[in-house]
Amino acid sequence: MHRVSLSAPDDFDGWRAAARRLAVAGVDPADVVWQVGDAPGDLFGHDPLPPEPERAAFSVPRAFVDLAQTAILHRDPERFALLYALLHRLRDRPGLMEDRADPLLRRIDALGKAVRRDIHKMRAFVRFREVAEGDDTRFVAWFEPEHHIVRDNAGFFVRRFASMRWSILTPDLSIHWDGATLNEGPGAQRSDAPDGDPVEALWKGYYAAIFNPARLKTGAMLSEMPKKYWRNLPEAALIPDLIAGAQAREAAMIATTSVAPRRPDDIATAWAALREGAMGCTRCPLHGPATQTIFGEGPLDAPILFIGEQPGDQEDLAGRPFVGPAGQLFDTALVQAGVDRSRAYVTNAVKHFKFERQGKRRLHQSPDAGEIEACRWWLSQEIALVRPRLIVALGASAARAMLGKAVTIGATRGMPIPLADGAEGWVTVHPSYLLRLPDAARRAEEHARFVAELRMVGERLTALA
Ligand code: URA
Repeated sequence: MHRVSLSAPDDFDGWRAAARRLAVAGVDPADVVWQVGDAPGDLFGHDPLPPEPERAAFSVPRAFVDLAQTAILHRDPERFALLYALLHRLRDRPGLMEDRADPLLRRIDALGKAVRRDIHKMRAFVRFREVAEGDDTRFVAWFEPEHHIVRDNAGFFVRRFASMRWSILTPDLSIHWDGATLNEGPGAQRSDAPDGDPVEALWKGYYAAIFNPARLKTGAMLSEMPKKYWRNLPEAALIPDLIAGAQAREAAMIATTSVAPRRPDDIATAWAALREGAMGCTRCPLHGPATQTIFGEGPLDAPILFIGEQPGDQEDLAGRPFVGPAGQLFDTALVQAGVDRSRAYVTNAVKHFKFERQGKRRLHQSPDAGEIEACRWWLSQEIALVRPRLIVALGASAARAMLGKAVTIGATRGMPIPLADGAEGWVTVHPSYLLRLPDAARRAEEHARFVAELRMVGERLTALA
């Protein structure tokens, strides 16, 4: 039996060094005990680690290293052993990382996903409070991560708040940045962090900028901002007031046609925070099998916003919407219709790829009503930020997301539909519908109709401008 003592719960380098020696020597995973720090003596005694190999006897794919680096941050006490078991099997099956149906790989993948979500939550929900420190100030935040992500996430905060002096206190450890050096300290308690101060005005500003009283959905709001983080979020204090004043503000918005100028920087910051939040979204089960959230993209002052159905296989891997075959057809059709794609914001009704596995292939499946409804929260926030004049739904799922109810394409396509927030909605087919048509003549006919409808939308935009 071999016993490996790692220096910390996120000691990837220690794990890697020991795992390499064990794997090269062919040590069975059942013969290794992994622990953090020194533990009381092992009842059965233990063998020394095999010697450092002269040279690596086998190489591992980059995908394994990336996954191991993330999954090791999970709080699951079995993570070190699971990763070693996977490494051990990779010796004889170098293609194992491609086998997404493998139960061990799936389990470790799930650990990695949970860690990535936690990392995104920390980035989205850490809120600094300003405190005096001698003649200077320091920004202090309290955060309770689910996994051992604090060290790994430190670089993000250093880059984002490079010129500030800040500390992030967590139960396991604290990190402190003085503008030049990052230091670590012991864990802290919530009461060590200060409450409320002027820097909160900044966050409150962003939050108020994206709050649209006409779209008030208290239930959705509560489910999106996990209660756990509420205590630390200054903008949470705004919610009762915003809700209370919502009806009056809605009436005022309807009564006036002029929209108060909004600062592009605030919109950009609010959009980045929204996107960050969507990266960790678990509002429906689709986040499980998908690789990542595919958020919308385009100018934040775009006069036109297109809604697709959901990312496909290629988008899921590339991390961007409309880059696969349907996206290419869409680009061509926009050019043919004379619509400037660079002025459009493009997003999807559902932000995760839904698929069914068939061998190595991942076959697209349409999202159901519940998944579209769960994801409408993100879509409505994107629309509230971009405030396009025209919104174009591509296909039935997108139309459902835009209108909040099921409609048929035949009955709604090619005509303006007034929307509650003042924008004008349009419905047309989804480009992948054209790709699926087997008959070439029919395909050409439908393509021409699609282009004609996009042209109509482009002309409408010019007329409105
Ligand atoms: N189909 C969509 O609806 N969206 C994409 O991003 C890609 C394909």
